[in-house]
Amino acid sequence: MSLGLTGKYCLITGATRGLGNTLARAFWEAGANLILVARSADALGRVIRDLGSRPDQEAISAAIDLAAPDAAIQIAHINCARVPHLNVLINNAAIQGPIGPLWENDWSAWLSALQVNLLSPIALCKAFAPRMIEGGGGSIINISGGGATSPRANFTAYATAKTGLVRFSETLAEELRPHDVRVNCIAPGAMNTTMLAEVVSRGADAAGPKEYAQAVKVQQEGGASMQRVAGLCMFLASDAARDITGKLISAVWDPWGSFPEHLDELNKTDIYTLRRIVPKDRGKTWGNDQ
Ligand SMILES: NC(=O)c1ccc[n+]([C@@H]2O[C@H](COP(=O)([O-])OP(=O)(O)OC[C@H]3O[C@@H](n4cnc5c(N)ncnc54)[C@H](OP(=O)(O)O)[C@@H]3O)[C@@H](O)[C@H]2O)c1
Repeated sequence: MSLGLTGKYCLITGATRGLGNTLARAFWEAGANLILVARSADALGRVIRDLGSRPDQEAISAAIDLAAPDAAIQIAHINCARVPHLNVLINNAAIQGPIGPLWENDWSAWLSALQVNLLSPIALCKAFAPRMIEGGGGSIINISGGGATSPRANFTAYATAKTGLVRFSETLAEELRPHDVRVNCIAPGAMNTTMLAEVVSRGADAAGPKEYAQAVKVQQEGGASMQRVAGLCMFLASDAARDITGKLISAVWDPWGSFPEHLDELNKTDIYTLRRIVPKDRGKTWGNDQ
């Protein structure tokens, strides 16, 4: 099935390894032009070399630290100055941030995690939304994850940023709906990457026994398929997902392949969104008392 991504411009942050690298390959194979962002210029150069050259496609690298408050402006106005319009923006880059109880966290590391994981995706959406509107539409995909739907002790910075990203995406989705720009979040599942290795290396004392054991298990067993996450990103970037916006979708657990058959229910309900649970949602009647 053609995804209609040929010739489209797709910006992927954190493209040098892990999920971002898998996404870059998948979108390149699907015929998209790429703008790839990470800190390491060398690593970006290697990724672009490995993609190989294709006559009608280009891959642009932007070696930028997303912890810098003006990173999005630089990417939009310098690296992407000659890009006609952006069709797909994937905010994938993230850092683990400080691990351990809040009161022991280094405050500047905490703020840095918020900058990279929350404020820089927001700034990129702000910088590129006008170009998507001008171009007649687009798809923004924000990679959320652990801590966005339940507490994640010892990871306050990461969990706070990833939860904020979901509510931000739901809100921006409403603002951009009339302009045919959709905004969705993905929960990719635990993947065997550098980010996960960091949890293992910090040990159970910092991460907590449950987080540590889960990370070790993922390392041993392989974790979630990055190809499946790439499949979901390509689906959300394609015309098949034209009417899907404002959702948080699990790559692993949700039947996203059949979403086009349920558009009416997706659009008229809060299915796959972040909401407050009240007693009746748990089968209790007392919450109905005034
Ligand atoms: N791994 C998991 O289990 C898991 C689970 C749920 C959600 N996620 C989410 O999935 C996404 C990808 O995670 P991953 O595990 O693939 O991470 P990863 O392997 O650590 O890769 C992170 C990427 O982001 C780039 N990056 C990091 N800090 C940056 C900065 N300040 N400026 C620019 N680029 C930066 C890195 O390149 P440079 O170092 O060269 O900058 C690298 O390309 C993240 O949003 C993560 O939160 C991961």
